[in-house]
Amino acid sequence: MTLVAGVDSSTQSCKVVVRDAETGRLVREGRASHPEGTEVDPAAWEAALRTAIDEAGGLADVAAVAVGGQQHGMVCLDSDGEVVRPALLWNDTRSAQAATDLTAELGGGQAWADAVGLVPVASFTVTKLRWLAEHEPENAARTAAVCLPHDWLTWRLAGSSGLDALVTDRGDASGTGYWSPFTGEYRTDLLERAFGGRTPVLPRVLGPADRAGVVAAGALAADGGAVLGPGTGDNAAAALGINAEPGDVVLSIGTSGVVSTVSTTPSADPSGTVAGFADATGNFLPLVVTLNAARVLDATARLLGVDHDELSRLALTAPAGSGGLVLVPFLEGERTPDKPHATGALHGLTLSTADPAHLARAAVEGLLCGLADGLEAIAAQGNPVRRVLLVGGGARSEAVRRLAPAVLGVPVLVPPPGEYVADGAARQAAWVLAGGDAPPTWPATSTQTYQADPVPFVRERYAEVREMTADRG
Ligand code: XUL
Repeated sequence: MTLVAGVDSSTQSCKVVVRDAETGRLVREGRASHPEGTEVDPAAWEAALRTAIDEAGGLADVAAVAVGGQQHGMVCLDSDGEVVRPALLWNDTRSAQAATDLTAELGGGQAWADAVGLVPVASFTVTKLRWLAEHEPENAARTAAVCLPHDWLTWRLAGSSGLDALVTDRGDASGTGYWSPFTGEYRTDLLERAFGGRTPVLPRVLGPADRAGVVAAGALAADGGAVLGPGTGDNAAAALGINAEPGDVVLSIGTSGVVSTVSTTPSADPSGTVAGFADATGNFLPLVVTLNAARVLDATARLLGVDHDELSRLALTAPAGSGGLVLVPFLEGERTPDKPHATGALHGLTLSTADPAHLARAAVEGLLCGLADGLEAIAAQGNPVRRVLLVGGGARSEAVRRLAPAVLGVPVLVPPPGEYVADGAARQAAWVLAGGDAPPTWPATSTQTYQADPVPFVRERYAEVREMTADRG
């Protein structure tokens, strides 16, 4: 049996899965936590990866490894390959002003969307580099190379021999803001603009099944020799792990909500709602992020003094549309729509809707309506929406599963909970070993299908209330 390993170096933890390269069967797994915070010393990711590899039984018998990681994080290296400062993560917002400035300097969203498929927001690496140049000029001056979390871990696994050995892939490069999904080339002019006129060394962009080298003995695992895949960003890895194809929309309800689809053409949305990423197979991955997802359910359960099962049961006893009660769940502002300072709103209280069931229903519908807005934006970019694959912690709620097809207007498939990012990385590793134009076919996971008649009036009423919420800065 040939074994492959996949890594998910995510915001909160590091997971490693070891799978049979031919069948995809899970053989072993391990995990370790990451520190909290929006800036993290990459050494902590390395320590967690080492622990997770050990817990997964090591790599001695593993033929290939690939790393999936949180997107966008800025890892700055000096000319000796030492980390210059802790990495700024995708959820660090200190570069919001830099995003506004960069957007204006190029003449607005259309110019950026046409150049790199993205309109700058604080998440994207290009804005973090501008922030560094402005606020920590000494650190900027020491920065000889810039890479992303998964690039850095791959480089460390390979023995980190020189900045020229840094590699990345299309999927993660597409989240930097200085790589074009239209040409497949870096836009060093945009990087220079952001970074005070300088272009540090950038990782070489590998093809989806190119070899990135081999694991160096003693690097991060006791035994070296396993072939390294190019790795990719977490969202591209998840799409590969779940085997999403054009027409499939992956909807992940975790700390944030992520709506994405695999597309054969790149996206350029000048409003910035849809980020025009690339995927890990040579296709594209238009994607929308909402900030308010699983925690909307947590907050409502807390408000009602019930657990998640009871919240779900209550929601399913109230009527569709919750008798006109609407919860717009901008509980920590919102990224999509762009209302960073907005707060949540509850509207439509009457004597008959002022009860736990109606509030529970309004919360689930509000969460789903926010995601439906994201789905609509992806469809508006010309992407077919055949069905939704629902994953993430929020997918455990029976009410979310049952109400999702009605609110989203398409069938909803729920695969079993799994480590889809690590699985996607493992599948990439198997592809690198096998070669060929497409990743190996692993048997599809069983899914539960949910269908329901669409309820457009629920979204219409939600939209009315959403428009009343102001973005008070
Ligand atoms: C995507 C994004 C997040 C991170 C989380 O743009 O910011 O999904 O990749 O890991």
